[in-house]
Amino acid sequence: MDIKGTVALITGGASGLGAATARRLFDAGASVVLVDLPGSAGEAFAAELNAAGRVRAGAPGDGSPAEPANKAVFAAADVTSEPEVQAAVDAAVALGPLRIVVNCAGIATPGKVLGRDGVLPLENFSRVIQINLVGTFNVIRLAAAAMAAAEPAVTGLGGPERGVIINTASVAAFDGQIGQPAYAASKGAVHAMTLPIARELARSLIRVVTIAPGIFETPMMAGLPQEAQDSLGHQVPHPSRLGRPAEYANLAAHIVENAMLNGETIRLDGAIRMGPK
Ligand SMILES: NC(=O)c1ccc[n+]([C@@H]2O[C@H](COP(=O)([O-])OP(=O)(O)OC[C@H]3O[C@@H](n4cnc5c(N)ncnc54)[C@H](O)[C@@H]3O)[C@@H](O)[C@H]2O)c1
Repeated sequence: MDIKGTVALITGGASGLGAATARRLFDAGASVVLVDLPGSAGEAFAAELNAAGRVRAGAPGDGSPAEPANKAVFAAADVTSEPEVQAAVDAAVALGPLRIVVNCAGIATPGKVLGRDGVLPLENFSRVIQINLVGTFNVIRLAAAAMAAAEPAVTGLGGPERGVIINTASVAAFDGQIGQPAYAASKGAVHAMTLPIARELARSLIRVVTIAPGIFETPMMAGLPQEAQDSLGHQVPHPSRLGRPAEYANLAAHIVENAMLNGETIRLDGAIRMGPK
């Protein structure tokens, strides 16, 4: 499917991988709805994208700002909330048929089963599952309903399609480390639900693909000391560095454009296989 002229909803769109993907899709001519928490940078980022879009569109002779064909909109929402996500989907549909969903909202709170402070509180485990897994599913189901209601698009090389849903797992889905039982479980489940949902939504001409990133240079990682970040980068066989958000965004864009990618989880990790810790 061609990206230009579509509407894309990106969760976690105010930061890191989600923000890079929003920028990539917006620059390729999609309207983007940035779904993120109310306290995030979503509003300012949407304004930045719109300003860049106006410059790209070229100012008319009278000097007034040009209006680009595509827009960026911030929809404050917690991905675990049914009404808030429904409102974000409605905001997307108000811009045109929703064709692209990228699920990037997530948290990586670590916690050992038996940590320094004792046994892991059950609510800590549940919170990670709730945001990373249940939140992703909440967005998928409400967005899929909106996508399925639209007419199929016939753009690009792939034939008629209604939409593409891209999820974000992690290499922790396969090589979870000590301290990651909740995170690995949530990401393993995102990987596991990719195929059944792709199989079901095939009849609606909607594809579902998951990206499992290795270690990427985002605010999530910036919380670690520089030394730890460098050490993680050196563990990547090639290229021996952290991944760049633009590299994730490029894969997301390719998934939209390549109609044969479906029901699959793609590792994007420079061949890293995480050790136990
Ligand atoms: N950075 C990495 O190395 C890496 C590796 C593997 C997987 N991932 C996954 O990629 C995704 C994006 O991570 P990132 O590195 O860009 O992190 P990030 O912290 O930069 O961005 C995550 C965004 O999600 C938002 N968010 C968190 N909880 C939310 C909620 N309940 N509702 C709505 N928005 C919420 C945050 O406000 C933030 O803007 C996450 O799912 C993460 O688990 C990241």
